[in-house]
Amino acid sequence: MMKLLIAGNWKMNLSVTDTEAMLSELKNKTRSDDVDSLIIPPFTSLDAARKLLDGTGIALGAQNLSHEDDGAFTGEISADMLLDLGVSHVLVGHSERREYQKETDALLNLKVKKAVAKGLIPILCVGEKKADRDSGEHESVVGNQLKKGLEGVHTTDIIVAYEPTWAIGTGDVCKPDDAQAMAAFIKGELKDLLGTDAVRVLYGGSVKPSNVKELMAQPSIDGALVGGASLKADDFAALINLG
Ligand code: G3H
Repeated sequence: MMKLLIAGNWKMNLSVTDTEAMLSELKNKTRSDDVDSLIIPPFTSLDAARKLLDGTGIALGAQNLSHEDDGAFTGEISADMLLDLGVSHVLVGHSERREYQKETDALLNLKVKKAVAKGLIPILCVGEKKADRDSGEHESVVGNQLKKGLEGVHTTDIIVAYEPTWAIGTGDVCKPDDAQAMAAFIKGELKDLLGTDAVRVLYGGSVKPSNVKELMAQPSIDGALVGGASLKADDFAALINLG
């Protein structure tokens, strides 16, 4: 089993002032060296977060990147800009970006490739909608997202996050058995696509201190991508300590 990674995706939450308060508090909480951790704040908080995370062993991630290097792309943020701010990981294809920004698998594939080429670790997010699960299509939906998102990618320096959209922010957590089954399916697909399954697979969707231990005990789940419960220092520290 791989070392667990607990990643906190703050989404569009926490100002710079809030970031400083949260991370100052988090720094004073005990952390287990058995678990890797990652904070993914909004772009506006990356610089403040980097300064506060320095020397803590907690890594810094971004929520998105451009597939372009530079130029006339108003509002976009490049991989080099993220590297400049001490970012090591970047989310690609979070379901909220697939849904609200209409990001396609083809675009996400370019973003994964750009991240890899620049030395950032992409966290490719995949997951089915409720209707897909109800109709038994969840594996084919996720398999398709993986195949298209990872086309032409030849590295194991990536992470995959399985987030069923119906479990995100709803409190309706995926049953550990179902999350395990999908994580195992994803590892099988990764073996076909990349020639190895030595790639971390995270689960995301209503993870909180009360359910993290059971989810993280599943053999094919190598960590968690957490939204709501990553915003408060106490909760995030509890997650890192697995409850
Ligand atoms: O990126 C995180 C996920 O979307 C999960 O969010 O923990 O608030 O359900 P949540």
